[in-house]
Amino acid sequence: MKTTGLSLEQAPPIVIPFKFFLTASLFVFAVGLVLVVGADKVFLSRWSPLALAITHLVTLGFLAQVMTGAMIQLLPVLAGSPIPAVVTTSRIIHLMLLGGTLLLALGFFHTDQLLIETGATLSGGAIMLFLAAVMVSLIRSGRRHDNAISFGLGWLAIIPTVAIGIYMVLGLGGLVAVGDMPRLVAVHLSWGLLGWVGTVLFSTVFQLLPIFYITDEISPGSRDFYVALIMLLLMLYSLAYFWNIESLEISLPIILALFLFLSFKLFQSIRSRRRKIVDVTLLFLWSGLASLLLAALAWIHGDNDLLVAVFLLGGVCMTMPIGIIYKVIPFLCWFHLQSLQVKQGRISSRLPSMKHYISDKDAKRHYLLHITAILLMAAAAMMPTLFARLSGLLFSLASLYFLRNLLFALLRYRAQQKALAVEQ
Ligand code: HEM
Repeated sequence: MKTTGLSLEQAPPIVIPFKFFLTASLFVFAVGLVLVVGADKVFLSRWSPLALAITHLVTLGFLAQVMTGAMIQLLPVLAGSPIPAVVTTSRIIHLMLLGGTLLLALGFFHTDQLLIETGATLSGGAIMLFLAAVMVSLIRSGRRHDNAISFGLGWLAIIPTVAIGIYMVLGLGGLVAVGDMPRLVAVHLSWGLLGWVGTVLFSTVFQLLPIFYITDEISPGSRDFYVALIMLLLMLYSLAYFWNIESLEISLPIILALFLFLSFKLFQSIRSRRRKIVDVTLLFLWSGLASLLLAALAWIHGDNDLLVAVFLLGGVCMTMPIGIIYKVIPFLCWFHLQSLQVKQGRISSRLPSMKHYISDKDAKRHYLLHITAILLMAAAAMMPTLFARLSGLLFSLASLYFLRNLLFALLRYRAQQKALAVEQ
């Protein structure tokens, strides 16, 4: 495995990504629970209070936790230095995001404006604090990774997402006049799902493929070009709303086509890998990419928004990050213990392999539960009375299995850490 660019000294404590990922898995559990309890109401329409609550449990509860946790860990590689006061800053970001998401989701659930406003302020504040910390770290370090531009642009897309989200919250409270709410929601979710999640997720996979699967590298220049093009098209799409220019709305299908093209490039890159092993993490990645195609087909078909949301939020935005986490967590465990050994000056003692922290068998069981849950959810989007509750049940089970796998990895890491301390 190629570990070029990773620095042992600068890696933030491993407990930081674990904390963010464990919280994210609890939010997936909350999604399952809401589905079980409110099965008959969730699939009424995409605008139902429960659907809005679930959307933000996934986007802010799961995705924002996973993506900030991962970025805090990855930043020393991308920017050459960690965020300032990494332990305290990440603790504040984590707690604000956790509290903010819960309040925002509860606010949507009960249609309670005060809860929505408090939740929006806290979660928006957490994201802005994170971005400010990243800026400080970028300014402090002179070094830049090849991938810094695509990651940077991707993260910038969260600013319009949050800004429009907060504007709509003010609109719901009657403090500002929002003209065409459904169209503004479309701009908000496009920046969030395509601009932020899409580009950061694809940049992460492009970054990790050569390291973990020994594939050819995709040139940083072409990666930056696609991400910049997506941002430009998103700006045009936003102008279509603000200036009421319908012809610019064509930018959205073009962005979708670009993501499908990038998915094809990812498939090709994975096919070219040197070690032809198919591990579970690849199954997660492939299923995520296939879900993107299904989401596009459902969108073109155009009569079931909820089906598009299931494929996009569940199929792509949850499945791909989980696959990445199953690849990254065992590596981080091994990497941090290696670092401990180097610090102790004992490079000779053997560390367990990465499979020790999360076994293939455990990851595969989670994969089967997760994919079954997504398929049942897709069925529920078409036949809610038959499948909604069952899909929630499966989703809760899958998330508990995810939580279990992460907790076991942490416990196994701790046991190894203790063993190293005793040996000394
Ligand atoms: C502080 C952060 C955020 C706030 C305050 C916020 C607020 C809102 C509001 C007020 C709505 C419209 C609700 C309505 O129509 O009554 C909405 C919809 C939506 N938001 Fe957010 N949002 C935030 C972050 C995000 C992020 C990060 C994403 C995606 C990555 C996202 C995805 C969505 C989606 C997909 C919908 C539409 C749901 C649907 O069409 O059914 N939001 N948001």
